[in-house]
Amino acid sequence: MKIIKTKSYDELSSLAADILFEQVKRNPCSVLGLATGSTPIGSYDKLVQYYEAGMVSFNSVKTINLDEYCGLCESHEQSYRFFMNTHLFNRIDIKKENTFVPNGLAKDIYAECRHYDEIYESIGPCDIQLLGIGVNGHIGFNEPDSSLVASTHCVTLSESTRAANSRNFASLDDVPSKAITLGLAGIMKAKRVLLLASGKAKLEAIKKTVYGDIDPHVPASFLQLHSDVTVICDFDIGE
Ligand code: GLP
Repeated sequence: MKIIKTKSYDELSSLAADILFEQVKRNPCSVLGLATGSTPIGSYDKLVQYYEAGMVSFNSVKTINLDEYCGLCESHEQSYRFFMNTHLFNRIDIKKENTFVPNGLAKDIYAECRHYDEIYESIGPCDIQLLGIGVNGHIGFNEPDSSLVASTHCVTLSESTRAANSRNFASLDDVPSKAITLGLAGIMKAKRVLLLASGKAKLEAIKKTVYGDIDPHVPASFLQLHSDVTVICDFDIGE
């Protein structure tokens, strides 16, 4: 893994945005695997700046997101579709039909998961998979467990993840208990992985990811098996 330590969140955001920008400049038909959470917001803002400056077009880009809460509609402010529309898609020239986020309202969640894997197979693999990380080492919504699921699946969120994400909801009770997430196989298929971590709260998770055993209790540690991972963090992780 390549580890890049930045001095600030702003520098982290610029670096990640530049990697995505270069990718789209190199190949305007790139497929980007995108993430939600507070961490990538700065990078999305930079990409919007590049777009507004006329430096890049997303007209032929396709995106596939990692995950979505079950039970939230697209117009719910905490749905990941709403997040992506607000922070990126509505602000650039990407075609909405080229942006994919799991449907958290699907009546048959199992069928939706299969459908999402089919979408991935038809447009993937991602040229770059952008990732944040949970304090418990989750990526997407692949939560720590005694084993991990390879394909897209429905997951019961851990209490620590619900508590961490409750900051965006009116109360903990409002945080959905289930979500659909791309599995580890989908994430690992990406040609390149870009993992972002900001703030000391992520230090332990990143240390375990980079230096720890490959362990399903730290889902991000499986990234050690990928040949092209860049970790960008705004804190020192030591040896
Ligand atoms: C959620 C998302 C993850 C994200 C994580 C960390 O659980 N499913 O993809 O990495 O939050 O979010 P943040 O960047 O806000 O710390």
